[in-house]
Amino acid sequence: MSDDTAAGGARASGMGSPAAGASGMGASGTGPVPAHVAVIMDGNGRWAESKGLPRTEGHRQGEVTLAEVVRAADDLGIRWFTAYGFSTENWSRPKLEVDFILSLHKNIFDRRLEMHRNNVRIRCIGRPVAGTSRLPRQILREMEESVELTKANTGLNFTLAFDYGSREELVYAARNLLEAHLREGTVIDERSVAQFLYEPAMPPVDLLVRTSGEQRLSNFLLWQSVGAPFYVTSTYWPDFGRAELEAAVDWWRAVPQGDGARGPASSAIA
Ligand code: FPP
Repeated sequence: MSDDTAAGGARASGMGSPAAGASGMGASGTGPVPAHVAVIMDGNGRWAESKGLPRTEGHRQGEVTLAEVVRAADDLGIRWFTAYGFSTENWSRPKLEVDFILSLHKNIFDRRLEMHRNNVRIRCIGRPVAGTSRLPRQILREMEESVELTKANTGLNFTLAFDYGSREELVYAARNLLEAHLREGTVIDERSVAQFLYEPAMPPVDLLVRTSGEQRLSNFLLWQSVGAPFYVTSTYWPDFGRAELEAAVDWWRAVPQGDGARGPASSAIA
């Protein structure tokens, strides 16, 4: 389903707080940049169909675009960049398509040496963290190697949401927090919930991007995106490059100050 009413590229919703999430001047030097940008990469299939190509070609180009946008995010000075690579709902697609998408995850992990040279830290959130993943062993191994190789890097935090669902993440957090509560009396509050998410160091999302015109969260970072302004562009993901990331950041700079309800900063927890 598509909604292309976001003509001209973007529409706003939600309450953002650009200044609060700013991580300093970007590489372009034109203003502050959001500390954490998260993207829902949508429209690969439609991109391919619009060109008379098989859907898999859209995914293939989508992986190339992701690598380019990670480099662009790094150049802009963004500190955290999170991409929705594979959702818990994506398993319901035809097996051939699922296998193809998973093979593209191998491609992105195969880029780990380049990312390592660029001081990028690769992280993953999703079922692999909980140890309940249904992903092929080889891809899990590549994921683990990528995380391990880059774990001391201090540049961009590139997080792949892989076999990820936000509701499952909240159940995971609740279960582990309850255990800690029963074991050692851990207080149950917003801060402690944040501490038990898949990636406790991840700060709140400052700018949430979705391509292809859809205006849905689709079970992505529900906790972390509580006050993030939502940039929806009609551009299909394979065509979303450096220029449109910069346009999204420009848009974010102009978003009116919200009420600051961005959720607890989990990174602030000792
Ligand atoms: C949406 O396209 C995207 C996905 C199903 C997620 C997979 C993303 C990629 C393969 C991009 C590269 C990323 C990685 C991590 C390798 P869609 O098929 O839903 O498009 P449609 O809505 O036009 O059918």
